[in-house]
Amino acid sequence: MEIVFATGNLHKLEEASQILGPEFRLRTPAELGITEDIPETSGTLEGNARQKAEYVFRRTGLPCFSDDTGLFVDALGGQPGVLSARYAGPGKNAADNVRKLLHELAGVPEEKDGRRMRTARFRCVVAYVSNEGCRLFEGKVEGEIAASPRGEGGFGYDPVFLPARYGLERSFSELSHEEKNAISHRGEAMTRFAEWIRGRHAEVDTER
Ligand code: IMP
Repeated sequence: MEIVFATGNLHKLEEASQILGPEFRLRTPAELGITEDIPETSGTLEGNARQKAEYVFRRTGLPCFSDDTGLFVDALGGQPGVLSARYAGPGKNAADNVRKLLHELAGVPEEKDGRRMRTARFRCVVAYVSNEGCRLFEGKVEGEIAASPRGEGGFGYDPVFLPARYGLERSFSELSHEEKNAISHRGEAMTRFAEWIRGRHAEVDTER
């Protein structure tokens, strides 16, 4: 099945290809001549995801999906949240974002009075847009923010995110692709999307 993934982020593209598998042939906006930044000006993940997928659908006329992700840190009242990409400024620099996050959390201990203090979650919203409208799919992963970056793999905030599902022992950067995708926010949202779209195609086939 050929489908456009409205992203310019090669890490997201790689993860999406691994999660969705070879049955989905992912095209990118760049391949289709869209070279400008795709607008994302909404105040929510849902709004941004929808805006990106609708933009590319309008430009190409092809069924299209997008991914908008945020890291929500409890000790920071949910920041950086929707603004995760630009947390340290408009340059969207991952190392600067991680540095700022660790700076904001300096002095916040792992635990206080029996309560975990550095808890956080990634939320990912996938929006699928076709001529039948828009559908949203969500994924979430719980964890904590490490005291310092760990590991070489992944991207973005991966070096400082310790997923609870692996016992807070390794950061996302220290996991294999398979280990991350099996529990990640993106893995969950894209698996839900893939199941839904496979079901849609099966329905269309039986209607023929
Ligand atoms: P956006 O969805 O492209 O707006 O990404 C928001 C921010 O979260 C960017 O700084 C990304 O680098 C970061 N991000 C998105 N997905 C992940 C992930 O799976 N791991 C770590 N950081 C991520």
